[in-house]
Amino acid sequence: MRKVRFVFFLGFFIVGVLAWTIPGDDEAAAYRDGGWNATYSKGQKLFSIHCAACHGKNGQGGIGLPLNLQSFLSVAPDGYIRKSIFYGRLPRQMIAFNAILKKEEIEAIASYVRGWQVSDYQGIDAKRVAGSAAKGKVFFDGMCAGCHGINGLGGPQVGGGHVTNSVAGYAGPSLNNQGFLKSATDGYIKATLMSGRVGTPMGAYLKGKQGFVELEEKEINDLVAYIRSWEKQGAGPRDPWRD
Ligand code: HEC
Ligand code: HEC
Repeated sequence: MRKVRFVFFLGFFIVGVLAWTIPGDDEAAAYRDGGWNATYSKGQKLFSIHCAACHGKNGQGGIGLPLNLQSFLSVAPDGYIRKSIFYGRLPRQMIAFNAILKKEEIEAIASYVRGWQVSDYQGIDAKRVAGSAAKGKVFFDGMCAGCHGINGLGGPQVGGGHVTNSVAGYAGPSLNNQGFLKSATDGYIKATLMSGRVGTPMGAYLKGKQGFVELEEKEINDLVAYIRSWEKQGAGPRDPWRD
């Protein structure tokens, strides 16, 4: 009996010491983790309000593409996720959030999405990749238009079809889309073409990756150049993360 009481007291003692040493207020917590936890929960809340209806509660996909997908997160720079929120994908289903969310709120959502990543970064940090758009067009019309639409305008928009591990059957997103082109660097597009998106219909195209079709790196560069040729330089809002 005495032993039990001792353990009981010891328990109280430990809890007491912990409560005393760990500062309770948010400011101290923010100081310790550089504000990361606060940003994360803010992002989580905003994601559930503005994004979950289309991208799924846990980013598993739905009307919008899966975001909780390692083969996506491992090649997507922060800028791509932030700018995608800022510019949206109109005339496709995703609206632009630049007039709805503040810069800090967009950054918080992007860090929340980033929190799903468990794999290493395998992206390519290149703003521009040189290639022949004319050669790229020939490849695109032959191998990509079937899913990404004629001139890359996107496959049919289906409700709720974009779910991870449906290896066949959902349409490709629009690539000939100003929101996409303003968000994506050439390096991001190239990395996506090289390794594809495991768990989705988007295959890997680089020779040696054992995709259905295998291309040389140079041919992938031509495709990137063709996709980039759709970008229009114009007016409109400019994102705060441009470099
Ligand atoms: C009305 C539905 C809808 C809402 C709301 C929405 N999205 Fe999207 N999102 C889409 C669709 C659809 C696409 C793909 C566009 C296409 O089909 O061309 C997309 C694409 C994206 C992409 C590009 C993904 C990739 O693999 O390249 C990101 C990132 C993204 N959305 C993030 C968000 C975030 C974060 C929010 C909330 C702030 C959000 N979306 C709100 C429907 C939506
Ligand atoms: C079988 C259908 C299919 C084919 C063929 C295909 N794609 Fe895709 N592609 C998709 C789907 C579906 C996605 C979205 C994957 C996801 O959920 O993240 C995608 C994603 C992409 C993305 C990323 C877009 C974004 O919003 O981040 C690029 C770039 C791309 N594809 C380019 C190509 C090119 C270039 C080709 C031809 C060499 C090609 N795709 C062939 C279905 C396809």
